[in-house]
Amino acid sequence: MTDTYGWPSTMTAIDPHDDLDMDSDWQRLVAPEHLPPAIRAHLRAERGLLASVLRTGGYRVVIEAGCADGSLCLPVVLSCGLDYIGVDVVAQAAAATRRAITGYRLRPGQRAVAVHGDARALQAIDGLGRAPERPLVVLPFNLFGIVSRPYEMLQSAAAIGADVLILTYQVTPEASTARSRYFTLGGWPGSEVELSDGVHYQGDHFISSVYSPETLRRWLVEAGFQPTMQPFGDIGLAASGALRVVTKSLPERHAEPVTRPAAPAG
Ligand SMILES: C[S@@+](CC[C@H](N)C(=O)[O-])C[C@H]1O[C@@H](n2cnc3c(N)ncnc32)[C@H](O)[C@@H]1O
Repeated sequence: MTDTYGWPSTMTAIDPHDDLDMDSDWQRLVAPEHLPPAIRAHLRAERGLLASVLRTGGYRVVIEAGCADGSLCLPVVLSCGLDYIGVDVVAQAAAATRRAITGYRLRPGQRAVAVHGDARALQAIDGLGRAPERPLVVLPFNLFGIVSRPYEMLQSAAAIGADVLILTYQVTPEASTARSRYFTLGGWPGSEVELSDGVHYQGDHFISSVYSPETLRRWLVEAGFQPTMQPFGDIGLAASGALRVVTKSLPERHAEPVTRPAAPAG
């Protein structure tokens, strides 16, 4: 592997992320039986961090990218009384989140929906480019590290006029140990490679990266955000991006995001 991660041109030289078959792997990535104690503790701390951001951030709408089965951020967003839009690149995951939503009693006027879409192209999802208020795009459980061209998620959030919250790991031996255990339990044995931009866990058919704070900061700045780094829990890092300038005037809000035509669930 060569060190070709950089803004923004050369990611395609290393593209094994795209070989990860999300259709079959998405459930294993979040299944409770595949989460070692350190990762469960990390996810509890991640939800706590998100709750504190939502309590003070002044947001009304939260877009969760990589919403999986709705177990990561949905409970926090709804309990804070905010509107929720889940987005997942796997149609069955979006459907699972829609099922999870039906298990909650929404407050009067509160809305929640999950759509099938790519977090790198949020502007392609009907309705997402038209929010009158600034939404927050949350990238939970290191979604940022598992996709190729992750900076496109930042560009995409900026394109819809959103702030971003990247929830990832610190670049520490403790985080590496926890992640290795998680991937081994999930059935993806592999090893970690350290490059100048962060550490990259390489299984036999995918890479899950943890980018250094310097890399995250640079990408956030390049995409038009004011970055803030905040460690949380034992191994977590929250990289926040406050959008500096909304570069386009946003047309009026569409009533509701519309699900793309999706393959039948299940
Ligand atoms: C939250 S990520 C978990 C990453 C994993 N914990 C790691 O450390 O590498 C898993 C979810 O993200 C979804 N996902 C992956 N790529 C995506 C993309 N480009 N847009 C939206 N969702 C995506 C998957 O389908 C899955 O439901």
